Amino acid sequence: MHEKLLIPGPTEVSQEILREQSRYLISHRGKSFSDFYRGIKTKLADFFELSNYYKSAVTTSSGTLWFDIVGRSIVQENALVCVNGAFSSRFAKTIQGCGKKVDILEVDWGKAITTNMVANKLESGNYDTVVICHNESSTGVRNPIYDIGALIRKKYPNIIFAVDSVSSMAGDKILPVKIGCDVIFASSQKCFALPPGLCIGVVSERALKRAVKIPYRGSYTDLIKIFDFEEKYQTPFTPNISLLYALDKRMDLLLKETYDCVYERHLEMAKYTRDWAKKNFALFPESGYESVTLTCIKNICRKKIGSLIEKLAKRGFLISNGYGKLKEKTFRIGHMGEWNVNEIKEVLGLIDDLWKL
Ligand SMILES: Cc1ncc(COP(=O)(O)O)c(C=O)c1O
Repeated sequence: MHEKLLIPGPTEVSQEILREQSRYLISHRGKSFSDFYRGIKTKLADFFELSNYYKSAVTTSSGTLWFDIVGRSIVQENALVCVNGAFSSRFAKTIQGCGKKVDILEVDWGKAITTNMVANKLESGNYDTVVICHNESSTGVRNPIYDIGALIRKKYPNIIFAVDSVSSMAGDKILPVKIGCDVIFASSQKCFALPPGLCIGVVSERALKRAVKIPYRGSYTDLIKIFDFEEKYQTPFTPNISLLYALDKRMDLLLKETYDCVYERHLEMAKYTRDWAKKNFALFPESGYESVTLTCIKNICRKKIGSLIEKLAKRGFLISNGYGKLKEKTFRIGHMGEWNVNEIKEVLGLIDDLWKL
């Protein structure tokens, strides 16, 4: 039986999208490709309401490549990295691995990074880059990037603000211009509801001006090389054209639905899941900072999560246990991509049934 994916990525991909990938390939150096890729970029600019100050790029990679891009092409000497979960921790280590200095602003898993915390750090430190994960998929915490972005733009015009939006962009409302971020990116297998293998990135002119000054940017991680090719509506290396067909279709569907409605649909699913969780369990994230695209639930009744996952899979749905050290302490339901609240109600109803809640 096909198990429908309600995990925090990869999420369920529709037949309509899967079919797009069976189209014939074209040369990535030909005019047809440039025309086609230009169309995708126009759709990304429309959907994410990009001004001319922002540019998009689609890399053939998973999201993690952009940790390296930030480490290699953006951080000059010293980054402040906000850490409150597994992915932000990996981001910090990646930047260190690129030979740059990292100062970590860390709070316990489940807690959010607040604007005040960042403000205090920035006053005392000498950072050229601030890095944060918007939606920590390991804990279900959503950090307040709009407020942090406003602080940075008001007081620190030269700081580059880099955001991992891997599991929130195109589900939660992400508008780079309003956030004031300089680098933001998301993987295709999350809210874009595509197979894994592409990363959608948006960068500001400030980011590109910074990158040009950074030595040893590598090759696949060289932001300047990527954008030299983007200018020609090409990619520096052979892209996954089949996945780009799927992304093109996805952008049509997202634009048709409109971002406001996409966001409302995700919020509705999140609210329903949170209310359900609060009836029998508790939410793992600190109140007020819950993710819109996945819910991380504290297993206060000490239920056997592994056994639930197996039984639910037999009924056709896959949810996820806790991440890493939270394995049995929490479980996670991903409600991102094409799901709607009625489908979420059905799945939660099945859990009620299986656990006799
Ligand atoms: C918040 C976050 N950042 C980064 C990643 C890594 O993305 P990828 O697996 O596409 O490299 C993930 C993957 O789950 C994630 O959830």
